[in-house]
Amino acid sequence: MSTVGKVIVCKAAVAWEPNKPLKMEEIQVAPPQADEVRIKIVATAVCHSDLYHLLENRNTDGFPTVLGHEAAGVVESVGEGVTEFQPGKMETYGEDKLFTGFCLHLFYLTGDKVIPVFLSQCGECRFCKSPKTNQCVTAWTRIHQDLMASVESRLSCNGKRLHQFMGTSTFSEYTVVHQTAVAKIDPNAPLDKVCLIGCGISTGYGAAVNTAKVEPGSTCAVFGLGAVGLAAVMGCKSAGAERIIAVDIIADKFEKAKVFGATDFVNPKDHDRPINQVLADMTSGGVDYSIECAGKVEVMRSALESCVGSWGVSVIVGWTDVCDVAVRPGQLVAGRTWKGSVFGGFKGKVGIPGMVQAYLDKKLKLDEFITHKMTLDQVNDAIDLMKQCKCIRTVLTVCQQ
Ligand code: ZN
Ligand code: CU
Repeated sequence: MSTVGKVIVCKAAVAWEPNKPLKMEEIQVAPPQADEVRIKIVATAVCHSDLYHLLENRNTDGFPTVLGHEAAGVVESVGEGVTEFQPGKMETYGEDKLFTGFCLHLFYLTGDKVIPVFLSQCGECRFCKSPKTNQCVTAWTRIHQDLMASVESRLSCNGKRLHQFMGTSTFSEYTVVHQTAVAKIDPNAPLDKVCLIGCGISTGYGAAVNTAKVEPGSTCAVFGLGAVGLAAVMGCKSAGAERIIAVDIIADKFEKAKVFGATDFVNPKDHDRPINQVLADMTSGGVDYSIECAGKVEVMRSALESCVGSWGVSVIVGWTDVCDVAVRPGQLVAGRTWKGSVFGGFKGKVGIPGMVQAYLDKKLKLDEFITHKMTLDQVNDAIDLMKQCKCIRTVLTVCQQ
């Protein structure tokens, strides 16, 4: 039975209100409208931004919602005007000459494999046309900075509209996304791995490669060794950095950081002076590049101060909107550059397939980030693991392919 053009009733984890466990519900997913794509989600990971919206966001407007934005799936159907994506098809064939005994065969042809992107790429605006940015005029970061879930959504539960989180909402068996926010990927890609490319790994890796533009032979420091920080270490390594200093207050994270290329480890708790002084001593004056992946304003400042005057570049990747960050102007006058990076500077639709290819070519690690595998029903356990910093990434199986 084809689902095309019909409302799909399926399972989703609904966040009814802030700070409460998600609830598995039966939801209704409307058919895609013009320029939209309905995606069957196969795997989704839990990212810190999901927690941020659930726990720390001071704006309660974006509820009820379906969280989740780091996922991969297959196209189920498309709305009017969508030609870039092929939906799955049910096809019947007549008598098969090779396998007698079956007179009618039903084949389900899987639709294009895709990754929904929270950072859309319309391809036509001033920002899409510039190679200097990935922040399309329709991008989430540009239009919804203070509200992470949009009212406009094809998802509802018992007649109540569910907000769409970061334009994606992937803690659901099906979701509907605008075609400018869908990236088509290699059909050979394992969706339970490449889902990570939809947010955290691209964010950290690209911050080193695209935003900092780390050069071969350089010295780097990465602050905060969650999935994003580890991916930044991997980015520094692949850009040819000679020395990569991993900084974190949890000592046992260094073993993992080594896997991605870290050469040194500094735990600020082991020192009674500012960490930038420790790093300056280790590197005769400061690192060439520092990347902040902790989302804390004090760390942002010390990352900046840890990079060398004259040419040091510091990139802020961590997100917070609860307080301001301060700096002495002299730190910048001395020649340091302070930058920020969203989604690693990758343009969504074109950057993601390239990252998937790098994984398939064994130039990018993904499996090493996955510490836990669960099913969508266990999403609250996955959230608890992340709250307690007991995981790097948990991948949830949502639908069978
Ligand atoms: Zn655009
Ligand atoms: Cu994320």
